[in-house]
Amino acid sequence: MLNRSRRLRTSAAMRNLVAETDLRPRHLIQGHFVHPQVGSIEISSMPGICNAGVEDTVRQVEKDLKRGLTNLLLFGVPDDAAKSPDAAYVKDREGVIPQTVRALKKAFGSDLIVITDVCLCGATSHGHCGLVSEEGEVLNDPSLPILAEMALRHAEAGADIVSPSDMMDGRVAAIRALLDQNGFTSTSILSYAIKHSGAYYGPFREAAHSSPKFGDRKTYQMDPRNAREGLRDALLDIEEGADLLMVKPALPNLDLIFRLRQATLAPLCAYHVSSEFSTVKAADRLGWVNGDQLMFEHLLAIRRAGADMIVTYAAREAVEKGWIS
Ligand code: PBG
Ligand code: ZN
Repeated sequence: MLNRSRRLRTSAAMRNLVAETDLRPRHLIQGHFVHPQVGSIEISSMPGICNAGVEDTVRQVEKDLKRGLTNLLLFGVPDDAAKSPDAAYVKDREGVIPQTVRALKKAFGSDLIVITDVCLCGATSHGHCGLVSEEGEVLNDPSLPILAEMALRHAEAGADIVSPSDMMDGRVAAIRALLDQNGFTSTSILSYAIKHSGAYYGPFREAAHSSPKFGDRKTYQMDPRNAREGLRDALLDIEEGADLLMVKPALPNLDLIFRLRQATLAPLCAYHVSSEFSTVKAADRLGWVNGDQLMFEHLLAIRRAGADMIVTYAAREAVEKGWIS
């Protein structure tokens, strides 16, 4: 037989020689939830992931860094009492995210890449990602200055990359302009460029106490029936000044990761979201799947589709359990 594909699969070394995809710690971004309280509480639907205080977060990041995990994404989880219809909390220099960023940068400086999620839903009493009118409409343009100010607070605290996840139109341009006006010309923007609405973010909303109190997010997050819509929006984000683009959720959108990879030269990030993580953990607990291996194969598939980097709650496990090194 002239063609025997199995020749190149005969040993681990041979398979390594012809391997096309690499997964390294540098490709991973660990997600963190930070709350203003002292101490950590595990999130029931996300085994191994905690709502952690600022000091606990710094300690955890120190351990992660020693294992080679240099990248993280922070979500703030303010107290319910701090929430308001206008999300005023996000403008506070003493808010939990500015405090955490300052502490991390003081401890680890440029060894660490700190990315912050920029969105109002954690700080609004109604749980929507933008301001809401009396009629219950999620307002686009009035939300932009608040998002930009939130991003500025993160940049002032030392964030390397700010990452708007709200899905308002024009927010990348608004953030870029305010950062530049204030001298933060080197702070990068990772735009949640393609973000579908639906059930994939359930465990996250439990963790972040950020579920909408009425309605849903379908007037701002994308319709999962659409692909062109997302590609078009992603290219607009580049025009507005996004430095990096994100696609989420990851596995249901491997087609979009692949297509966006062809459509732009910008670095591409995929977000392996909370329920992608939680469903693997749940099935593993039931004994139905090998969770470690399955999680690793998820991450590999996302890289193979074309993502340069992956936000995942499994980054720490991946290095601790030696799936990657
Ligand atoms: C905030 C935000 C969400 C996620 C990232 N940023 C929740 C949402 O849009 O409701 C989801 C991430 C995950 O599920 O892990 N807007
Ligand atoms: Zn939001």
